[in-house]
Amino acid sequence: MSAQTAEDALKVGLPNQWYALLPANWVKDAPVGITRLGQRLVLWRDDKDQIHVQYDRCPHRGAALSQGHVIDGMVTCPYHGIQITCEGIIDSVPAYPGCQLEGMKGVRTYPSVVKGGCVFAWFGDEDAPGEVELPEEFDDPAWSYFICTGPWVGSHLHAMDNLLDPMHGSYLHAESYTLAYGKAQDEMEIEKTDDGFIVKRKGQIGENFDWTEYSYTGADWVRLDLPYPNGAGPGGMFRIIGFVTPIDENSHQVFFWRMRQVEGWERDLWRFMYKSRLEERHWNVLEQDRVVIEQMEQPESEMLYQHDIGVTQLRRVLQKRARDHLKSTTPAAVAAE
Ligand code: FES
Ligand SMILES: [Fe+2]
Repeated sequence: MSAQTAEDALKVGLPNQWYALLPANWVKDAPVGITRLGQRLVLWRDDKDQIHVQYDRCPHRGAALSQGHVIDGMVTCPYHGIQITCEGIIDSVPAYPGCQLEGMKGVRTYPSVVKGGCVFAWFGDEDAPGEVELPEEFDDPAWSYFICTGPWVGSHLHAMDNLLDPMHGSYLHAESYTLAYGKAQDEMEIEKTDDGFIVKRKGQIGENFDWTEYSYTGADWVRLDLPYPNGAGPGGMFRIIGFVTPIDENSHQVFFWRMRQVEGWERDLWRFMYKSRLEERHWNVLEQDRVVIEQMEQPESEMLYQHDIGVTQLRRVLQKRARDHLKSTTPAAVAAE
């Protein structure tokens, strides 16, 4: 059933935009099956090393292509061996050569791109993908990063709200390695940008998790900086780029690029320190977020206050995009709301 309200439309992620799917190096020789936006996807790597994203269903009888293999540069169904090209065309039906299915379009294909070491895909018309501008740090050799990703229970909207709420850093993460600094009271303000807005503390910047920049550039994402203690090695602020992709209505995949602008031997040192000491600490902080988010009730009963202006602004932006989407697809349903 198609979505009737903006809230419904947002539950499993809006179509006609780009989403992060999973780190590219998780796709090796065998096809990988995942669910994103409630859709079963298969990701596979062809013989030129290019990754393809398709609906994970064989057009013959519906077996999962992700249980098959890649043979001759085509994803091959495990059930009766039908082979599908990267455009989703049935190339061969080995059990019945010359079968009328050969040459037919059989599988939805999602335009995709690998950036920042991650596969991103377009969830819309496969012949007319929209444009996307991904964070400039992904292509900037001055930045060194690690991708941290995992599935969380609950609405993807809760994870986005969390990122637009810098004030929680002083409470939820008050005992942490990076977020134990600065004042625990403040006022928040919003600054509009070309692609979204920044929510920031009025009383301090650069002491704690003090601001978040939200952008919509064909994909939703956030950027924020955290101060690093001297003991964390050379380099500037610790930057986080975050994406959240719905798996279904009740779970989502979070992606965090943890990065520093640091080059040469200092980069080597930071990367060594990250792997040997810092990564575990960062995971511990992220676990605090995950545990809170996974236990949250749906937001109907919230009593918001001044610090929630980032959350409120984000919801306004998403709801507007959801309403625009509904208007463009089901004008009658919107009129009836
Ligand atoms: S179900 Fe895939 S080949 Fe038969
Ligand atoms: Fe947090």
